[in-house]
Formats: sequence, C-alpha cells, structure tokens
Amino acid sequence: MTRPGWGILATGGIAHAFTRDLVAEGFTVAAVGSRRLEAARDFAAAHGIPAAHGSYEQLVADPSVDIVYVATPHSHHAEHALLAIAAGKHVLVEKAFTLTQRQAQQVADAAAAAGVVVMEAMWTRFLPHMTRIRELVHGGALGEVRTVLADHTQSLPLDPAHRLQNPALGGGALLDLGIYPVSFAVDVLGLPTQVTARAALTATGVDRQTAMVLEYDDGRQAVLQTALDTAGPNRAAVIGTAGYLEIERTFYAPTTTTLFDPHGEVVERFAPEVRQRGMQFQALELEARVAGAAPTTLPLDESVAIMGVLDEVRRQIGVRYAADLEA
Ligand SMILES: NC(=O)c1ccc[n+]([C@@H]2O[C@H](COP(=O)([O-])OP(=O)(O)OC[C@H]3O[C@@H](n4cnc5c(N)ncnc54)[C@H](OP(=O)(O)O)[C@@H]3O)[C@@H](O)[C@H]2O)c1
Repeated sequence: MTRPGWGILATGGIAHAFTRDLVAEGFTVAAVGSRRLEAARDFAAAHGIPAAHGSYEQLVADPSVDIVYVATPHSHHAEHALLAIAAGKHVLVEKAFTLTQRQAQQVADAAAAAGVVVMEAMWTRFLPHMTRIRELVHGGALGEVRTVLADHTQSLPLDPAHRLQNPALGGGALLDLGIYPVSFAVDVLGLPTQVTARAALTATGVDRQTAMVLEYDDGRQAVLQTALDTAGPNRAAVIGTAGYLEIERTFYAPTTTTLFDPHGEVVERFAPEVRQRGMQFQALELEARVAGAAPTTLPLDESVAIMGVLDEVRRQIGVRYAADLEA
C-alpha cells in the first residue's frame, strides 16, 4: 500500500525539525508551501521534497498531498487547518491546537463535516515513555494517583516582534510551553473541575510566567508552571498512594523515567530508545487513523477541551487575544 503524501505548511523552525524526522523515518513528504516561493524552494531543496509552492492555497490543492502539517504561529492554526479541511485534506496541527476553544470547536466541526482526520501535534503524548507512564498509572502501579507536578520553562528570544512576545501571533509562555504540562496533567488525571492561575506578563501583554493549579472534585491536584525567559528543570512527577514517577529533564521529550515506591526505592527505570527527535510517532498515529484506526492517544475532543482550560487560565491572568472577541 502506498503511504499518504505529507504537505508541510510553513517553513519555520519546527517545520524543519518535523520534516527531518519524517524524511529520516521514510515517510512520503510530497510538497511544502510557504508565503514566499523562494522559502518553499529552499526548504524543498534542504529536505529533498519534490514540490514547492509559493502559497498555502497551492499547497493544500496539490493532489499529491493527503495530510497537511500546519506549522504556523498559534494565531493562524485555525485558519490554516480550515483551509486544508476545505480542500479535503487530513490535518496535523501544531500545538497549541488553536488560540481559543471556540476556534478549536470550529475546526473539529469542519473536520467532522468533511470526513477528514484532524489531530493536534502534541508530539509528547505519542512518545514511548509516555505510553509506559500511562500503562503504570492506569494499571495501578502508583496506587491512587493524587498529584501531578510539571514545569516547562525556557529562555527564549525577548525581541518584542518575535512571535512568542507578540499577542497578535498568539504569544506568551502558556500556548507555546505551558500547553505541555497542561496536556500532561489532563493525560494522567483527566479534565479538571477547577482551574486557578497566576501570572506575570511581559511589556507586550502576554504571559512571561504562569503558575497553575488544576483541581478535581475528589481532591487530586496538578501543580504546573511555565515561563519563557528562564530555563528551569523541565521535569515532571506523578505521585500516588503506592509510589511515584519521576520524569527527568526534559519530561516532554524522550527521557528517563523512574518508578519509586513510597520509601524512595527504585521499582523500575525506563528510557526507551528513540530515533531522531521523536516527532515521527504522532505522524504514525495520524497515518493509522487515516487508514481507519480509532484514536488511541489524543482524540480531537480532548484537544478542544484542553483549549477550554487554556482559555480559563488566560481569563484569570488577563491575557487576551483578538480571537477572544470573535463571535
Ligand atoms: N512540537 C514542538 O516541539 C514545537 C517546537 C517549536 C514550535 N512548535 C509550534 O510550531 C508552531 C510554529 O513555531 P515555530 O517555532 O516553527 O515558528 P517560526 O519559526 O516563527 O515559524 C513559523 C512559520 O509560520 C509561517 N507564518 C505564516 N504566517 C506567519 C506570520 N504572520 N508571522 C510569522 N510566521 C508566519 C512562516 O512560514 P512561511 O514564511 O514559510 O510562510 C514561518 O516560518 C507554533 O505553533 C509552535 O507552538 C512546536
């Protein structure tokens, strides 16, 4: 069976990283599209891609493209996902899925109406150590799970025009980095019943650092932090009545995880070998779903619900995007 053709929409940093993994792992990368033909041609030459398009419209219309990978800033995810869906293509949308939950629901509704598969590129979910963590958590190895601790903190460009600082491009720590601990907490504990957040903002009005507590009716908690101008441990822990898991730096990428008993004795340590950066696992799941498999790791309604958590965090910390005003 021939594999589906991937179309890369945008030529920025993560588009390069993801495409490198696809090519190295033998996926079919059929085309790339950029706002500038020159950029598309350079990208195609760098990765050995047969077709280069000077607009996103041309990319999604290319008959050799079955799956579009959207790698634009957060502000443009919904628009570009909808563009691909309207062309009848399946879509992998970079995290955070959209700017708002309303946009996320709009994309999910359009995908359902068009009968195409859409998935958020929360690549961490699909990594082998996360699969083992879910097995241990759901298999009862930790007893009753009570707490998740996680941070995603990096020292990133402070240029006010950079997408991370710019509210018009969906800037701030939360959507770029904070999405990882939030998505991890939801993976382990499910959706919270209550969210509390505090933040310090940048001069440009996006969150520089944000602390979050997700709470559950039965008393479980996730304590999460994110920041874009200070690099921290980037570790995570899952704590239960019969033991705890420590996920070493950097928890959201391939790394070592240890299961301890309540006395701190090692029960199991695992560090699955991962080729490349590890972005191929999400692509494998999307291809399986395109071939008819049911979602196993990140159903679209969970991505939509997570955007609701991020909306509530932003409401509490006072970070507003233009999309918040959309009807
Ligand atoms: N999974 C991960 O590990 C990971 C890591 C980093 C980022 N990301 C996510 O990937 C997305 C892109 O991040 P990035 O770091 O790759 O960003 P980036 O380097 O700034 O690239 C973004 C690309 O989007 C396109 N674009 C379209 N409209 C734009 C606009 N108005 N302003 C700027 N660029 C525009 C541009 O491509 P053309 O010029 O070719 O049109 C640009 O190169 C974000 O959602 C981010 O959260 C994921």
